Amino acid sequence: MKIDYRQINASDFDEIRQFFILNEYCWRDSDPEGFIERSEEKRDSVAAEFLEKLKNINEEKYHCLAAFNGEEMIASHFLDIYMIEAKLACHIHALWVNPSYRGYGIARKLKEMGEVWARKMNCVFMDSNTKVTNTGMIALNKDLGYSIARYNFRKTL
Ligand SMILES: CC(C)(COP(=O)(O)OP(=O)(O)OC[C@H]1O[C@@H](n2cnc3c(N)ncnc32)[C@H](O)[C@@H]1OP(=O)(O)O)[C@@H](O)C(=O)NCCC(=O)NCCS
Repeated sequence: MKIDYRQINASDFDEIRQFFILNEYCWRDSDPEGFIERSEEKRDSVAAEFLEKLKNINEEKYHCLAAFNGEEMIASHFLDIYMIEAKLACHIHALWVNPSYRGYGIARKLKEMGEVWARKMNCVFMDSNTKVTNTGMIALNKDLGYSIARYNFRKTL
């Protein structure tokens, strides 16, 4: 299986749209109870919004990495730079791999590529959230040297 990894084409509306649909799948698969599917109109407007945002390459706030099998986008990794606790950090908004391609190291590769970019952008650390039930993501993060920075407490009322 030959998988290609690259940044999405920032001037290709359809590719941007597909990338954000895959990000939706990340939300759907990692938090099914909290998931609300976007309408086609909303998907269009999100893609249009990011077409504008990604045009501004000087800003380089966002990084949209994807994996492809031929023409098919099979995984997405969406990163965003901002200040956290007064330090420049790279936050991971979404990481999703098509179920047919899981277990082949695609997420690991995308996370490593994200870190290479974040270092280049002078980020001090990577920042990522996941549900306590997401054992796969927790195992991968630990394996890549991530440690727990904060707990999110909840109490059912
Ligand atoms: C989590 C996810 C991104 C992993 O993608 P993947 O390409 O299958 O992961 P990889 O093949 O790169 O796995 C790398 C490592 O992660 C860990 N891992 C991945 N999936 C795992 C699982 N289901 N159970 C246990 N460990 C797992 C393992 O340590 C694995 O290393 P190994 O293969 O040497 O054992 C994928 O299952 C997915 O898209 N899930 C739904 C969306 C999601 O939960 N995204 C994260 C939201 S925070």
